[in-house]
Amino acid sequence: MHKPLARLAILLSGRGSNMLALAEAVRAGVLHGLAEVAVVFSNDPAALGLDAAAALGLPTASLPSKGRKRESFDLEVVDILREYRPNYVVLAGYMRVLSPAFVRAFAGRIINIHPADTHQHQGLHAYEWAFDNRLSETKITVHLVDEGLDTGPILAQEVVNLIGADTLAEVQRRGLAVEHTLYAETLANLITGAAIPTLPTHNS
Ligand code: GAR
Repeated sequence: MHKPLARLAILLSGRGSNMLALAEAVRAGVLHGLAEVAVVFSNDPAALGLDAAAALGLPTASLPSKGRKRESFDLEVVDILREYRPNYVVLAGYMRVLSPAFVRAFAGRIINIHPADTHQHQGLHAYEWAFDNRLSETKITVHLVDEGLDTGPILAQEVVNLIGADTLAEVQRRGLAVEHTLYAETLANLITGAAIPTLPTHNS
């Protein structure tokens, strides 16, 4: 008997290159036969990623967050997402800190990709941080989301070699190439039970 497909709610705020990579993995890659895209949601109705999702025929939804209080906005988003019955809420460049109410609504089922080692850099501008500090490598991290900022249990990390990357654009290009494969692979491992979360220690 086939297991039902895991339903993904993909949340984004921008161009959506990770969303596109996930959609492609669902169509013809490592997530094929494991997952389906239940909805692509944005807190910005003008996000390019929403148009890109709609062009693929994926269900989309949005609710503008501008000027809204965090918790009441998040509770409305929870209601919207629940209509799509997601098994996983997949953050793909969703540039909002989630309120505890949101995290609790989907506890243990929210996944994020962070463009740095979450032990070393939390929050925004992680590629700028790697570039400004002339790091010879950085680490892409996929982790479960808890109530802290980039503190949740790590599911997978992959090193990006930055030797010779002498522009920010090149740092981002190399990093995104890793993001686009690592996110889909990690989700596939999570769905099949092969990814085991490890707690970050914040002391490395
Ligand atoms: C990605 O690099 C993602 O890792 C990052 O935003 C970018 C979104 O790009 N997320 C964070 O920085 C979260 N703290 P995309 O819209 O092309 O997927």
